Amino acid sequence: MTPQSPSTKENLSHRSDDADWYRSAVVYQVYPRSFADSDGDGTGDIGGLIFRLPYIHALGVDAIWVNPWYPSPLHDGGYDVSDYRDIHPDFGTLEQADEFVHRAHALGLKVLLDLVPNHCSNSHPWFQAALKAGPGSAERELFVFRDGKGKHGEQPPTNWTAMFGGSAWQRVVDDDGNPEQWYLHLFAAEQPDWNWENPRVHEEFDSILRFWFDRGLDGFRIDVADSMAKDQSFPDMPIDPSTGVGTLDKYEGSPIFDQPHVHDIHREWRRIADSYADSDQGARVFVGEAYLNPAHRLAQYVHPDELQTTFNFDALKCAWDAASQRRVIDATRDAIGSVGAPCTWVLANHDTVRPASRYGKASTGVIHTESGIDHSAQPTHAELEAMPTDVDLGRRRFRAASLLELALPGGAYIYQGGELGLEEVEDLPEESLQDPTWLRSGRTIRGRDGCRIPIPWSGTEPPFGFSPDGSSSLPWLPQPAHWANYTVEAQDKDPGSMLTLYRTLLAERKANPALGDGDLSWDDDVPDGVLSFRRDPGFRCIVNISQAPYPMPAGAELIAASDDVSDGKIGVDCAVWLRV
Ligand code: NOJ
Repeated sequence: MTPQSPSTKENLSHRSDDADWYRSAVVYQVYPRSFADSDGDGTGDIGGLIFRLPYIHALGVDAIWVNPWYPSPLHDGGYDVSDYRDIHPDFGTLEQADEFVHRAHALGLKVLLDLVPNHCSNSHPWFQAALKAGPGSAERELFVFRDGKGKHGEQPPTNWTAMFGGSAWQRVVDDDGNPEQWYLHLFAAEQPDWNWENPRVHEEFDSILRFWFDRGLDGFRIDVADSMAKDQSFPDMPIDPSTGVGTLDKYEGSPIFDQPHVHDIHREWRRIADSYADSDQGARVFVGEAYLNPAHRLAQYVHPDELQTTFNFDALKCAWDAASQRRVIDATRDAIGSVGAPCTWVLANHDTVRPASRYGKASTGVIHTESGIDHSAQPTHAELEAMPTDVDLGRRRFRAASLLELALPGGAYIYQGGELGLEEVEDLPEESLQDPTWLRSGRTIRGRDGCRIPIPWSGTEPPFGFSPDGSSSLPWLPQPAHWANYTVEAQDKDPGSMLTLYRTLLAERKANPALGDGDLSWDDDVPDGVLSFRRDPGFRCIVNISQAPYPMPAGAELIAASDDVSDGKIGVDCAVWLRV
């Protein structure tokens, strides 16, 4: 059987040219530092992004989400923003940003930016002013400063733990070297949390949204969208017995995550986004980043008057296990669908182990049982990092998972390099590690650099076209030599490559009226381990996560397969798209 050319889509009403474009959109995530370097300094930039726009367009996606490009000391890859209305000089200028947005629009691509509202950089002028102004000042009220506990205030105000390890409080030392108040930072100490109880913070972010919307941005991805509001009684958290410190579990009632009044902020922003409804571009759109489980908690964020969409991290983290996958798919559809929002499907991002590696480990992710997540089956970070990886197996499964992801109802996200099947680089030299997790974990958890390696575009040796020929600076993270086989150039004309598979799937998705927003119906007459569903009109997806090949259904026309099916069988860890 040979794959057929894409079918014709008659009804384009739910595609990206209407107000509901986000309900079906495939969004390509660009981590600018690692995408393409136009000036040879080893760091990706907006010039590189503009240069590679035709590549993104030809891939067949609908929108681009750009990770933070603001001025920042880059203590956390740009999630430590020192100026929300400008561009990091390493990445370019505001004029280049405007040009990028303009050119993307000319190609029919929407552009989403990253908004980082929970915290800024400790180099942000308002934080610097707060340090200088001292306790009790209006400047300190913009952040979360508190006196410490203990006789001399020597203990942090609460036992809250930072996401990157250690206490979530940092003590300030005044100009004379005397210790004084503490400030809250849910992430690194270089990322002080804003005080969202202060109306001035609301005004500032409203104005930042308008600044970018007025420049033509189509929307924002909201960083840690569930964290801005804190319980103002500042209670201690339960102790996690495995670590002996305050838990980071997002349990219901956590003082830092998913506080009820965080929704007031989202409603405020939605009103701003909707105020652009009459502009040429129409209302602006949000996607929230909130790692919340079960799905009904996430659904609270996509009520009709809040964010339009939210990432589906249950899907991203789900084990390569048919029962777990189906539970996540159904729970997502039920919960997100119940408030009228579209589902999104996500396999990867700049914070997580690339799927080509994750699916090649003994533990491929979270197991979902009838009663919820099986926590006993979850390895720790350190155990996962130490677990051997079969990348060939992982890549085979990732190909199949991509067919599943792109066939499900709703929108989907592709993290740059996913379309090349890149794996996690797990053996980066320690001296090259930059993720704050590495230092804050006492050099026990390597962190996320392995999924942020600069993209290999062409050629046979590093920098693989990431930087211009003859550049003297090396890429900011080293690329593995064997990526010569995974460059865009190497995969471009190869009918069996991951890149060709993605182009095929995305072209079909654009053309086939069954795909994108809508619903699905499961086939239940398949063996355990086989996922099979249909979408109207005439589309069927089969994913084999069982232990035995599954016969190709008679009379179906093959649209795409993640692996060779010429023997008439859908092998183990293989998926197909069929016209039925
Ligand atoms: C989530 C972002 O994706 C991650 O990269 C960052 O470190 C944290 N939020 C803190 O901003």
